[in-house]
Amino acid sequence: MSRGVIPLRRPSVFKRIFFLARPYWLLLLFSLLLSLVASLFSGSVAWLVKPVLDHIFLEKNYRYLDILPLIVIGIFSLRGLSAFFQAYLMRLAALRFVNDLRYRLYQKILRLPLKEVSAETSGRLVSRVINDTTALEPVLGDMFRTLMLEGLTVITLVAVALYRRFDLALLALTVFPAVAIGARKLGTKARKARKLGQQEIAEVTHQVTESLQGLREVKVYLQEDFLVGRFRQKLEGYLRYLLRVTKYREGARLLVDLMTGLGGALVFTYGGHLVIRGAITPGDFFSVLTAILMIFSPLRRISRAYTGLYDASAALERVEEVLAYPEEKGGPKKASAPQEGLVFDHVYFRYREGEDFVLQDVNLKIPAGQVVALVGPSGAGKSTLVSLIPRFYDPSRGKILLDGTDLREFELGSLRALIGIVSQDIVLFNATVYENIAFGNPKASREEVIAAARLAYAHEFIEQLPQGYDTVLGHKGFNLSGGQRQRLAIARAILKNPPILILDEATSHLDAVSEQKVQKALERLMRGRTTIVIAHRLST
Ligand SMILES: Nc1ncnc2c1ncn2[C@@H]1O[C@H](COP(=O)(O)OP(=O)(O)OP(=O)(O)O)[C@@H](O)[C@H]1O
Ligand SMILES: [Mg+2]
Repeated sequence: MSRGVIPLRRPSVFKRIFFLARPYWLLLLFSLLLSLVASLFSGSVAWLVKPVLDHIFLEKNYRYLDILPLIVIGIFSLRGLSAFFQAYLMRLAALRFVNDLRYRLYQKILRLPLKEVSAETSGRLVSRVINDTTALEPVLGDMFRTLMLEGLTVITLVAVALYRRFDLALLALTVFPAVAIGARKLGTKARKARKLGQQEIAEVTHQVTESLQGLREVKVYLQEDFLVGRFRQKLEGYLRYLLRVTKYREGARLLVDLMTGLGGALVFTYGGHLVIRGAITPGDFFSVLTAILMIFSPLRRISRAYTGLYDASAALERVEEVLAYPEEKGGPKKASAPQEGLVFDHVYFRYREGEDFVLQDVNLKIPAGQVVALVGPSGAGKSTLVSLIPRFYDPSRGKILLDGTDLREFELGSLRALIGIVSQDIVLFNATVYENIAFGNPKASREEVIAAARLAYAHEFIEQLPQGYDTVLGHKGFNLSGGQRQRLAIARAILKNPPILILDEATSHLDAVSEQKVQKALERLMRGRTTIVIAHRLST
């Protein structure tokens, strides 16, 4: 797939995500304020340790004992409430942001030129709409919140510790840089292993899907044992990567424990001296200790959020890449039904640069209101030729004219509105029979839809389906035979009632009797329309 224009130097993930999430800045701001409140309350817990110890336990002051419980209850409920609303609002912004992004991606995908979409790229595109956007959700909903909330908590706690006893707090904080550096190194390793693991599981998923799609081939060629063997091998690989991730992750935790032990020893030794000497009260000592101990869990959450940001950054890049793809473009003119006809003027076409031309120097006149038949061997390029008319692809060289105007000058919608296609590979959507026909003209009445089905000789078999016109077709629905699908596609085209009609082997799946009938319907349909019929046999 060709890449869109991507500037070389790019702002940080955060900036880019906030740019995309700008409609929700008010929610985010409010949420941020709430997290500030919540973290201040956290800090006040460490703060309170001193009066509790010094006034209640040491001075045995009952007045403090009366108000203290109320203060504790107050602090915790306010902290809880602000955290609750903060989390809710942030999640709201995040979910809306992700949905917005999906919506924009889907819209983009529908506007992509067909040359950008192949079997190979479509899997990737699907994954970008679903998986990559999901990977972005935690950035706003969780990481941002964690970094803000926990960041503020850490700052408040450090401030409290420093205020209580500056040198003791500093001493305790010396272990943190070592933890940070070690955790970072292990984090990088864990990330790499996880990425490899994800590739492995992606292949596992792919294999399962593929096996289901080709279940008949698997069975008739007795491939079960081979496939199971390969499946097992991939799963083992996945397991090894995940174990490695666990090793690094738990290693980081081990490091934290070791450093906590070291830091604790330093604090107890030095702090103990200070208390015994009477330089600080036991309250001061425990206040510092509490603050330091309380720092650990927010720090751990911050580092996890930071790691997550890396994954999100990769996902964001993939999403942005799709959003930057050029969309298909038409010209300014409004196309109208052909008066003179269509002309292929020295048309060359190939699917990819460097490959052989599928169409070479095609010159063809399709007079308005007349039927032109294309006959040729399989692979000759007949389907390719007609796909140039709705501009699914553009000629590599030469041009196609409608009443003397290059197709590229027409507005795409107005051009495509003129064209009806019954293609070789008929696609039915996961919708009812009725909706599948009405696709040709969503404004049609029920009577018109049924009339079109009758003309296409589809009405009888539709009536016999379990729910008639309301039977759901497509990947989760009812399966139709090749000939039945063709008749639905013909009904769809009849309903659209287009001035230009393209029939690509429209009756190839029908038996002789139905073919004759459908043929009659098609002849009636072709009357007065500019029609291109592709056929293997000249009878059509
Ligand atoms: N999307 C595509 N990407 C790349 N090559 C393609 C694509 N579609 C068709 N081709 C190639 O272009 C050539 C012409 O294919 P096309 O489908 O136009 O033939 P056709 O005349 O319609 O054949 P048939 O009678 O079997 O339907 C073939 O060699 C085919 O492999
Ligand atoms: Mg074909």
